[in-house]
Amino acid sequence: MERTLTILKPDCVKKQLIGAVVNQIERAGFRVVAMKKIRLTKETAGEFYGVHRERPFFGELVDFMSSGPCVPMILEKENAVADFRALIGATDPAEAKEGTVRKLHADSKGENIVHGSDSAENATVEASFFFAAEEVVRNN
Ligand code: RTP
Ligand code: MG
Repeated sequence: MERTLTILKPDCVKKQLIGAVVNQIERAGFRVVAMKKIRLTKETAGEFYGVHRERPFFGELVDFMSSGPCVPMILEKENAVADFRALIGATDPAEAKEGTVRKLHADSKGENIVHGSDSAENATVEASFFFAAEEVVRNN
């Protein structure tokens, strides 16, 4: 079993797509082992996406991620990191495959509905960014 960290981004929450996207995630075989609704500050959003600090889109990204509540989750599945990246599709919804979460729901490369960890190592770091050990509970 592997874990990945996802965030249903503020556009997902605003569009009232939490249920639809969680449904798609569960149907794809992922188990939700941690989940909460929070609002990031500019500071915490910048810390989470710190790897992109020097990129031209960083300011826009921080503004967007702190623009409203979001829903971080830890998901569990075999090969969770790669399988989840495949489920959500390319960063830019225009380039995402048919049927992927971003193709179905995202408006732009910046506002793209969902985050997915890009490695198992980063998934571990990102999971502890949002969740204390006692907030992570397996279904059975
Ligand atoms: P994420 O980290 O959110 O799962 O997205 P990703 O791996 O597919 O893409 P990444 O390169 O890590 O970029 C992080 C987020 O920054 C925003 N972005 N905007 N306007 C742009 O050119 C641009 N490029 C990236 C997106 O919200 C992207 O998901
Ligand atoms: Mg990324």
